[in-house]
Amino acid sequence: MRVYIHIPFCASKCPYCAFGSFTDFSLVRQYFDALNKDLNHQLKEFLGTKKHIKSIFFGGGTPSVVGVKFYEKIMDLLLSYCAKNAEITFEANPNSAKLEWLKSIKNLGANRISFGTQSFDEKKLEFLGRTHSSADTFKAIENALRAGFERINVDFIYGTKLDSKKLLSSELEGIKKLKNLGVKHISAYALTLEQNTPFYAHKNYAKEAPILANFMIKGLKSLGFLQYEISNFAQIGYECEHNLGYWMGDEYIGVGAFSVGCVGKTRLYAHSLIENYINEPLFRKSEYLSDDEWSDERLLLGLRSKLGVDEKYIKNKEILEFLEKDKKILRENGRVFNKNFLLADELACVLC
Ligand SMILES: C[S@@+](CC[C@H](N)C(=O)[O-])C[C@H]1O[C@@H](n2cnc3c(N)ncnc32)[C@H](O)[C@@H]1O
Ligand code: SF4
Repeated sequence: MRVYIHIPFCASKCPYCAFGSFTDFSLVRQYFDALNKDLNHQLKEFLGTKKHIKSIFFGGGTPSVVGVKFYEKIMDLLLSYCAKNAEITFEANPNSAKLEWLKSIKNLGANRISFGTQSFDEKKLEFLGRTHSSADTFKAIENALRAGFERINVDFIYGTKLDSKKLLSSELEGIKKLKNLGVKHISAYALTLEQNTPFYAHKNYAKEAPILANFMIKGLKSLGFLQYEISNFAQIGYECEHNLGYWMGDEYIGVGAFSVGCVGKTRLYAHSLIENYINEPLFRKSEYLSDDEWSDERLLLGLRSKLGVDEKYIKNKEILEFLEKDKKILRENGRVFNKNFLLADELACVLC
């Protein structure tokens, strides 16, 4: 079992982002009271007395904008259900995660930290509506290392209209410096224009986005970060255990407003308005996935990552044989592995 906990607060709202978050902090206390009730209820219902949480992910929003004292009760409770060496990640923003916050969250049991950096270029940071500088990122990494974190991820966005091979080369120079400091995981996301965001109406992506994607992926690989999913790169042994769990189809509970869980083949959606969640933290809308929907999901997630996909989820065996002959995929022990994650969507389309 895995646990996702959503913290829907951010210091400011980035114009490209569709994640559920608000800049009004007046309901933080009530939100955490509701979060505790929700978590207590779900742990009893889905875990009983078993200690088998393999990973926990506090995502957002920006978990680091909330004081550590709010996490104490939740972490106490979660740790009593954790398997040995469970991975516990907190997402953080370079300007809100100060040394004291990082030390205290580590003391509570966090063992992985993920910073939303997005870029080292000051113009691109401004364009993305970020409120930190590249110096803030280096300071935050230094602090995370001083606090004792060994597993650090840094998020980047590329493919915006400001990006070019030249700009990405300088991002890769910065990433090389992060690597020298001890960062072992990088997430590099191609910009998605999300509906209902200020970016959606504008052509804010680079015209040559596919070329830039190949360039960024090659650059990260040459720095020694192995691509284990379309947007995720790590040194061996530093992959994100929690995300691997999602892609393998493990069960997970979602706690908090906007959260989604999946138990068996049932998806569970919490309220997405904070006020509604505070009033009804246990409310869930459920959606049962049919066998076809489940198998399509396994196919797509497997083709986007190094995990590959069980052949039983592939309906079009004729195309499978053709793609194998054409060396687009690898077949081994009843599993199919994609050689180019950028083609995952197209391959999933023809194989389902
Ligand atoms: C929930 S945010 C986490 C971190 C924290 N809130 C921050 O931004 O510093 C997760 C990551 O998703 C990525 N992201 C968000 N919106 C995106 C978009 N429209 N296109 C591509 N990546 C996006 C960003 O890299 C971001 O750091
Ligand atoms: S990218 Fe991060 S900081 Fe920006 S709005 Fe989204 S969740 Fe908040």
